[in-house]
Amino acid sequence: MKNIFLIGFMGAGKTTAAKALSEKYGLHLVEMDEEIENREGRAISQIFAEDGENYFRRLETEFLEELGQRENLAVSCGGGAAVREENRAAMRRSGTVVYLSAAPETIYERVKGFHTRPLLEGHMNVEYISEMMKARLPVYEAAADLTVRTDGRSTEEICTEIFNRISQP
Ligand code: S3P
Repeated sequence: MKNIFLIGFMGAGKTTAAKALSEKYGLHLVEMDEEIENREGRAISQIFAEDGENYFRRLETEFLEELGQRENLAVSCGGGAAVREENRAAMRRSGTVVYLSAAPETIYERVKGFHTRPLLEGHMNVEYISEMMKARLPVYEAAADLTVRTDGRSTEEICTEIFNRISQP
């Protein structure tokens, strides 16, 4: 099977859905943020603080190019991984790109208790999330082969929809 790349805003449920897809359909799970943290031996927030966002974005690009050489992966992408054009191209080449959408209010409820996302530190509110999401929407839509809504839906429902739509001829 080709790879499945899950993209979308922070807290859209990419990691949860990728885990469930990997278990249900026998795919190998890749959590981009976690893998980058392991390779660098430091947390995302530390990478941003010490080397800046551009450095982190380069790591994402290198990693996505590597993943393009593999198959049978369920990849949970970082929320900004679809921003660079070369990243969108790398995902497209090796798999199907699925945009998980969620309302800003839903996102806020999911992310508010965490301090692991440097781009939301000091801006943990619905208005900021909503503005950032508006700015990101065009790149998510440009990257996606299909969009799946996640608000108020179970992981099971989301995964079944993803799989059914990917399997359609
Ligand atoms: C980011 C999203 C985060 C992480 C980093 C930057 C973004 O991943 O890659 O903090 O630019 O949206 P999650 O979407 O897994 O939180």
